Amino acid sequence: MKLPLLLVFTFILISQIEHSECRQISWFPNVIDTISNKTSELSNYVREKGRRIKHFYVENVRKKITSYLGLNNGDTNYIERPEDRQSRINRQFRNIVIEAESSKNNLFDTIAPAAVEYKCTNEDPMIHMTTPQLIAVHGYRAESHTVVTDDGYILTIHRIPYSKNAENKVSPRKTVLMHHGLLGSSADWILAGPEKGLGYILSEAGYDVWLANVRGNTYSRAHVSRDIDSFEFWNFTFHDVSQHDLPAVIDYIMEVKGWDAKINYIGHSMGTTVLFALLSTKTQYNKILRAGYALAPVAYMTDIKSPIKLLARYSDNIEYLMKLLGANEFLPQNAVLRWLSKHACEINHYEEAICENSMFVLCGHDERQFNRSLLPIILGHVPAGASTRTLVHYAQEIKQSGRFQQFDYGPVDNFKAYGTVTPPEYQLHKITLPIALFSSQNDWLAGEGDVSNLYVQLVNPIEHYIVPLKEFNHIDFLWAVDAPTLVYTKLLQLLEKGVSKSVDEDLLDNNLLDD
Ligand SMILES: *[C@@H]1O[C@H](CO)[C@@H](O)[C@H](O)[C@H]1NC(C)=O
Ligand SMILES: *[C@@H]1O[C@H](CO)[C@@H](O)[C@H](O)[C@H]1NC(C)=O
Ligand SMILES: *[C@@H]1O[C@H](CO)[C@@H](O)[C@H](O)[C@H]1NC(C)=O
Repeated sequence: MKLPLLLVFTFILISQIEHSECRQISWFPNVIDTISNKTSELSNYVREKGRRIKHFYVENVRKKITSYLGLNNGDTNYIERPEDRQSRINRQFRNIVIEAESSKNNLFDTIAPAAVEYKCTNEDPMIHMTTPQLIAVHGYRAESHTVVTDDGYILTIHRIPYSKNAENKVSPRKTVLMHHGLLGSSADWILAGPEKGLGYILSEAGYDVWLANVRGNTYSRAHVSRDIDSFEFWNFTFHDVSQHDLPAVIDYIMEVKGWDAKINYIGHSMGTTVLFALLSTKTQYNKILRAGYALAPVAYMTDIKSPIKLLARYSDNIEYLMKLLGANEFLPQNAVLRWLSKHACEINHYEEAICENSMFVLCGHDERQFNRSLLPIILGHVPAGASTRTLVHYAQEIKQSGRFQQFDYGPVDNFKAYGTVTPPEYQLHKITLPIALFSSQNDWLAGEGDVSNLYVQLVNPIEHYIVPLKEFNHIDFLWAVDAPTLVYTKLLQLLEKGVSKSVDEDLLDNNLLDD
């Protein structure tokens, strides 16, 4: 029964890859019931979709990628003969399935136990470097700090304390905390290198730059008592991050910098969700932070094009979703997409790499703004880890379109947890921190309507800036070729002076200390 489940999920993802709206296939809901009978139907469907994906990549990206490969080194020794590769892949896949079935393991966990290794990337040592190593390679000072949350998670956060060319080596008063999104890490902000990476740009602009890492990602896989392979470790959603990780990190920075430090917060994607959840529940942080800058903000989720939307219809059945996606860490995209590219599309290394990376599948791929030279290093760092429960939480929000709310355990357990049969909504009107929103029109996760709806709820809005490029998507905020001109220039302007009147006086005192 496990292989068919895999096929079902493969189908879910493939049907979305061509950037199209979710189409309802009439037989799909029945698949769960009559699953064994539908296996061959699904396989055919998968194959057909695979051919179309292959066509899409051959038409659109193959040439550029190949020429990139050619440019970088004429040596193509590391590519094995296609027929050898195909049979090796087939063999491996068969073995994995047999092993999984015989040991009654969850198939997804077995197929995707860890990040994929890409042979072609081994040549560039930067791919394997950690965030601080990457920062150091570019001549900046990098620091790692350990922060323990009040529920025992051990987080490693990173810091660029001052700019490369700083005359005196002391960290400036101006402080920014950057929080990555779903499946991301501190590396997201610096992968694009000193010219284009927002972490470096802020450092050059005179900020003390702190880079958060959420529980469960590459740098924060530890707990004082829970085993990282246990369900207890992965039993969290973005709500827990907002209640424990964020306060711990903010408090820590203030301990280091002094309690009068006013921290600017920059979040991307889930990094904005956790900010809104924090500010609407632990409201004292509205006073502690200086301002919030939300890139691709995610709170309301009614206008979603990401395949994550397809999970929404199962969000009532948490147990089923956990079984489908793996109960602990969220990894199945890798497994499923890898399976897909190995069996359905005979595409080359680089195409396959995009095709099977969960970040691109969930967030889309904007060919024109994507710097292909960054692909190896991105694949070396993304996905960095997320809990399945976080995905389920997002899926619930999509299902309850219009409600930005805490985790839904079902009526009975909700009552136990919250004292109400439905989970409490986050009270956005309690957010008094000045906040600027940055959104784009081609964002699969932060749709225009949802972001506007969020903006009008803010008590202390700074500005809602819409990126003036139609194709700009969710992850372009991190790595787009033109992100500096399209987004960061504006962000820096707002950072310098964009705080609304009511807090300006507050700031004046701090700014006097700055120089
Ligand atoms: C499978 O499908 C065939 C033909 O569509 C049908 O005759 C058969 O009863 C189905 N079997 C099950 C177990 O649903
Ligand atoms: C998972 O977390 C919820 C609260 O977030 C808690 O009620 C539940 O007991 C936890 N389950 C396990 C097995 O730790
Ligand atoms: C693409 O990334 C590489 C590696 O960081 C960089 O050298 C190059 O300037 C980037 N190209 C563009 C157009 O941003």
